[in-house]
Amino acid sequence: MKQEQLQNLVEQMTLEEKIDQLLQLAAAFYSDKAEEKTGPMSDLGLTQETINQAGTTLGVSGAKEAIRVQKEYMANNRLHIPTILMADIIHGFRTIFPIPLALGCTWDAAAVEKMAAVSAKEAAVSGLHVTFSPMVDLVRDPRWGRVMESTGEDPFLNSQLAQAMVLGYQGTDLKNDLSRVAACVKHFAAYGAALSGRDYNSVDLSEQQLREQYLPGYRAALEAGAKLVMTSFNSLNGVPATGNKWLFRDILRKEFGFDGVVISDWGAIQELIAHGVAKDKKQAAQLAIEAGVDIEMMTTCYTDYLAELIQEGTVDEQLLDEAVLRILTLKNDLGLFENPHRGANVEEEARVIFSEEHQQAAKDLATKAIVLLKNEAILPLKSEENVALIGPAAASQDILGAWSWQGQKTEAISLAEGAKNLSSSLLLGKEPFDYFAPSEAAIKEALALAEKADKVILALGETSEMSGEAASRSDIRLPEAQIQLFQALQQVNKEIIVTVYNGRPLDLSDFNQAKAIVEAWFPGSQGGHALAEILWGNSNPSGRLSMSFPETVGQVPIYYNVENTGRPYESAPDEKYVSKYLDTSNYAKYPFGFGLTYSQVDYTELVINQSLTSATPLTASVKVKNTSSLPVVETVQFYIRDLVAERVRPIKELKAFEKVSLAPGEEKTVSCELNEADLRYVHIDNQWRSDTGDFQLMVGPNSRDLLTTTFQLIE
Ligand code: BGC
Repeated sequence: MKQEQLQNLVEQMTLEEKIDQLLQLAAAFYSDKAEEKTGPMSDLGLTQETINQAGTTLGVSGAKEAIRVQKEYMANNRLHIPTILMADIIHGFRTIFPIPLALGCTWDAAAVEKMAAVSAKEAAVSGLHVTFSPMVDLVRDPRWGRVMESTGEDPFLNSQLAQAMVLGYQGTDLKNDLSRVAACVKHFAAYGAALSGRDYNSVDLSEQQLREQYLPGYRAALEAGAKLVMTSFNSLNGVPATGNKWLFRDILRKEFGFDGVVISDWGAIQELIAHGVAKDKKQAAQLAIEAGVDIEMMTTCYTDYLAELIQEGTVDEQLLDEAVLRILTLKNDLGLFENPHRGANVEEEARVIFSEEHQQAAKDLATKAIVLLKNEAILPLKSEENVALIGPAAASQDILGAWSWQGQKTEAISLAEGAKNLSSSLLLGKEPFDYFAPSEAAIKEALALAEKADKVILALGETSEMSGEAASRSDIRLPEAQIQLFQALQQVNKEIIVTVYNGRPLDLSDFNQAKAIVEAWFPGSQGGHALAEILWGNSNPSGRLSMSFPETVGQVPIYYNVENTGRPYESAPDEKYVSKYLDTSNYAKYPFGFGLTYSQVDYTELVINQSLTSATPLTASVKVKNTSSLPVVETVQFYIRDLVAERVRPIKELKAFEKVSLAPGEEKTVSCELNEADLRYVHIDNQWRSDTGDFQLMVGPNSRDLLTTTFQLIE
């Protein structure tokens, strides 16, 4: 359809029909199963007519069901407008990939794009049109359970991966490529900065921090063409995002030029009442429509009050018409007017979903995402070594993570299953092992196995419910029972490798005595194969942290790109009156960008070719040499520091990275090009520009261990 025809369609619609387009209802409303049609998910006091007309739906699954829902919807719709079927496909549909924080640790945009393309393919064949992903909220506080949904603490890495995800979901021809879905970037804005790491909590951020750190990820996703934006639950500097005109009209629409659909988060329009900025649903509807929120998810402020607000002249009908046009444009961009069932295909579904090829992709991503945090020459294991595999996560299939809607735990590969393929002398217990309160029999068996073994793999972790939405924690250590188990094992065998499944950076100080620590995150359907292959050396670990691990929760929020203070600790470490703690270090236990391999890579000869001007870029290069006998993939990271600026600048900012494969003994030169635009930051007037003067350039394998040189920006 042409834009003009869409415009005509809006003109033919009654006021009620237009308002109904703005309502999004959950799948239960459209179910033909009696048991699903009762309960809070399907009871908002709506008439059947409104339910029939609601413009979009969330959470329908399966091609057969999607086709049925669309058919009935269109048959009930006077103008035969199709509905859009949306859902949360966050890190895989049925084939589950590692959680996004782990995807961040791959530092591999092509692999992340592949994850999104596979997810889109599975979702599209089962009839979905839109995914509520990527979530690009920058995160600095591991107490917040939703850090697992983000790709981490760095705006540059987040932006690269946000773009990769949008491209993977949407492809380059969304209308005609039926194996793609539209992407909804969320949660606008700054949801990741919830105070105290408590979910849904207020956000208080300077405009500089907002613009420099938090907004770039969303903007990058929009530049890659994301079709929708979701509002966030939080208030930002005292104004809830979902009713925040400045955020949506001034920044998102005017400044970023976004003309797609804005959808509220679940119930977020009505929550303006609880926030205390609206006295009732009517005022909440007014605030949201004026802010430019097009779709109301699962509450009925628009449905109940928009007509009244328009009829009494409080809200201009033009605002409604614009919202409807944007929703119809999205339907048109998805090709739904011509092809309302899009990719839904009952026969293909069985072939495509959870295919061998997709599982292979999930394994590849999981392998790349696992981070080796510590290794005192105990890994990799040898197949003939006598290894005891112990602990609550050893045989656990709870490895998909909190956002794996269609994922089946029973299809997930446990570490025990993965290990059986690779070890000829594995010692496995028979007793079931609880994460929080293991039975005495399980502990006894574990100790007996450890005593017999040369080495012990102690498989620990959080359960998947311990991170994700509404899963904040004030204590980010592992459960006490797991710590006690480690201590007991230490008495009988000191050769312990700890593996961890989890959704957030943890305080791992209880495991300082472990000989190795392997961070496996929630690795997805193929996690056990990927982790076992790392442990037994079939894969050389290559993951690098996308978020810092603190020494203790007391350091939180902790992140690598901090600003300098007037009394930096490093300038006088023995002084009292410098910026430090009395009882712990200033630094992360495992910093951003950190991750070991089984190889040794040396960095030498950092060279810069010339000064930088606005017309001529600078090229920096470094030599990296694999001095080990194993092939390795090394992630070379380039950081800068602006030494004198109008505003205090971070001590390090990631500006480029490259993953390079190095054969044993091989040396390569890795270069990066920096432009004047890479040196820009948000000045006191909130504008992005650079300052001439002195800069540092740093390169290395992580944000801590860096070679440093200097350069200048001249006019
Ligand atoms: C979450 C969103 C999600 C939505 C729909 C909300 O609770 O905050 O991230 O997309 O539900 O499921």
